[in-house]
Amino acid sequence: MMLSNFPNRRGRRLRQNSGIRYLIRETRLSKSDLICPIFVREGENIIEKIPSMPGVYRYSLDTLVPYVEKLISYGILAVALFPLTPSKKKSSTCEEAWNPENLVNIATRQLKKNFPDLIVMLDVALDPYNSDGHDGLLLGGKVINDSTLLALEKQALVQAGAGADILGPSDMMDGRIKTIRIALEENGFKDTLIMSYAAKFASAFYGPFREAVGAQDLLKGDKKTYQIDPSNMEEAIREVEEDINEGADMVMVKPGMPYLDIISEVKRKFNFPTFAYQVSGEYAMLRGAIESNWLDKNKTIIESLTCFKRAGCDGILTYFAPDAALILDDSGR
Ligand code: PBG
Repeated sequence: MMLSNFPNRRGRRLRQNSGIRYLIRETRLSKSDLICPIFVREGENIIEKIPSMPGVYRYSLDTLVPYVEKLISYGILAVALFPLTPSKKKSSTCEEAWNPENLVNIATRQLKKNFPDLIVMLDVALDPYNSDGHDGLLLGGKVINDSTLLALEKQALVQAGAGADILGPSDMMDGRIKTIRIALEENGFKDTLIMSYAAKFASAFYGPFREAVGAQDLLKGDKKTYQIDPSNMEEAIREVEEDINEGADMVMVKPGMPYLDIISEVKRKFNFPTFAYQVSGEYAMLRGAIESNWLDKNKTIIESLTCFKRAGCDGILTYFAPDAALILDDSGR
């Protein structure tokens, strides 16, 4: 145990004014740490509210470009696109996932044409296209791993072809990083990055997202046969290690705030680019309290995101990205 060394040591000397505090600050949050998730939908001239995510909207392709232009002007470098797929395009075989003309692929081409430096990330998983609501293909009520890999491979190649910079496999099938990496190499996509949703937990905090992509009512059962039990650390570490070995360039822990211990362990064990997803439920919770004036908006947003950096994150996917970018100044204060 460390004994008090008072008055040689007075912790408050280092906290006495903001200049001293900035000087000894260990963690800095900056705009370049943020990846902004965006929901896209069909139609024209639409900016549609998502009831459980106040302040987050679904954009049609024509309103997406001006929105992203605004984000870039705020200093945001990266976005992640998620589609609301009309139910007539969903099926149990999920073909829409590898349609080169599906919403996210068109959106990606459009964004890369308008903003060549913007980093675009796409999710590799079947749930937005699956009439069963699952991330993988279902047979006899079970999610089938290896046939799902074939579908994910097709989806990934089409997304890389559309110009996505980062693919984010979020499905938690075994072997998906290896499958996708080999397919990318064999098809000439040697520079396409993979940010694996490596430690993705079977969490209740994804509820608002499932509403946003229209998967909520379709999902039969739960995702516990592929996403990790929230009780497990060792299993999460094994999953991360596997994904790194299979060819991931970056790994992600998801959800974020209740899982900072996992982030910290991952960063210390692997010294690898590590990201977290502050997911829809975390956003809903904080935004709800902010809107009720129970929490201070700016302070809460910056504190919650700074804690991800302190835990070991290199970057954060967060629905607060636009707010945070507006709050942060370039000096990282
Ligand atoms: C789908 C996917 C999910 C999220 C990102 N990709 C939901 C899920 O696994 O059910 C969650 C994001 C969020 O809650 O903000 N594979």
